[in-house]
Amino acid sequence: MMLVSLPENQLDSILNSLQAQTSFFGTLAPLIDITATPGNNRRIKIQPTCLESEIAAMNVLVTGGSGRIGRYVVRDLVAAGHVVTNADLAPTPGLPGGFLRVDLTDAGDVYQALAYTQSQAVIHLGAWANAGIVPDTRTFGDNARGAYNVFQACADLGIQRIVNASSAQVYGFAKAAPLYAPVDEDHPLRPCNSYALAKVVGEQTADYFVQQFGLTILSFRFMGVRMPGEIAGEIAAMAADPASGAWLLWTRTDARDAALACRLAIEAAEVPAGPYNITGAQVVLDQPAAELVATHFGASTKLHDLPDHVSPLSTARAQAAFGYRPRYVWNQRQRHPENEPETE
Ligand SMILES: NC(=O)c1ccc[n+]([C@@H]2O[C@H](COP(=O)([O-])OP(=O)(O)OC[C@H]3O[C@@H](n4cnc5c(N)ncnc54)[C@H](O)[C@@H]3O)[C@@H](O)[C@H]2O)c1
Repeated sequence: MMLVSLPENQLDSILNSLQAQTSFFGTLAPLIDITATPGNNRRIKIQPTCLESEIAAMNVLVTGGSGRIGRYVVRDLVAAGHVVTNADLAPTPGLPGGFLRVDLTDAGDVYQALAYTQSQAVIHLGAWANAGIVPDTRTFGDNARGAYNVFQACADLGIQRIVNASSAQVYGFAKAAPLYAPVDEDHPLRPCNSYALAKVVGEQTADYFVQQFGLTILSFRFMGVRMPGEIAGEIAAMAADPASGAWLLWTRTDARDAALACRLAIEAAEVPAGPYNITGAQVVLDQPAAELVATHFGASTKLHDLPDHVSPLSTARAQAAFGYRPRYVWNQRQRHPENEPETE
């Protein structure tokens, strides 16, 4: 918010001029609320406002905003009225908001991007998004360094709220059955590749900055996030070979729901730091979730309350903390293509 003192006899003309000049702010123009406060102070208040709610607009840096999750995060934040900059190695054509070419492994790039955009919150998604894209030494080194650079710069620049993309791969279901289901955030971590190990380190780095610098960093253990156009094909492949779905617990997350989770987490007034499972609401196959778990993992997995088709990865913590409820339930009968109206 910006407060400006004005001489009384100039208030009207300055207000008119300011309202006309908001066009210079481009996409910000409809978001700026100019109100005069009459009385002795004769001040006007310039308060950026979000289109969808009463939540004040923020400057948000989205690292990795060109990626399959990031582009939905950028679009969702812009649609909600925030001022968004995508910091990535390369742009995605047609994405709204600003773009800065940033290499997250370069601390100078990270500090300058955050300072230049006057960011108030960060969604940190930029990373090698799996093992095997680059050599393991680089997967681990770049991802761990990128997270450290972002958190250290936020601490130094006074940016408090950060979403940190971790992964459900920290649980290691590709190589070992869940110890119990539904899987909550207390489940032991068993990283089984360089990517998952870097995510564990990223979470621990986040915890260090929470404890030592008072930041609020939420580490999202995303599972099976896909763009809407990708999901139906994956469900068909999984239906033909249900065992292939076991490592992601037969669940997919629509990227639009992942984006919603990110936005809710930075908009919430108070929210506990720490890990949060983020996934879709249900298993995508016709078989009930408990049956899938019992068939594929057997006695290795202790079954708790897992009714109907509810996802074996519990998102109860995210729901309680910032109201995350996935909106797009995909399965063998339900699809939600990109152009479908939103189902809030
Ligand atoms: N998609 C999933 O199912 C899933 C699951 C768990 C976790 N995640 C995590 O979520 C995040 C986003 O995943 P995604 O699926 O959108 O991946 P993606 O590969 O589509 O996007 C990652 C983006 O990060 C950018 N990037 C990589 N290294 C960078 C660097 N050094 N500097 C700047 N930008 C860099 C890439 O250019 C890319 O645009 C990642 O951290 C990933 O590990 C994704």
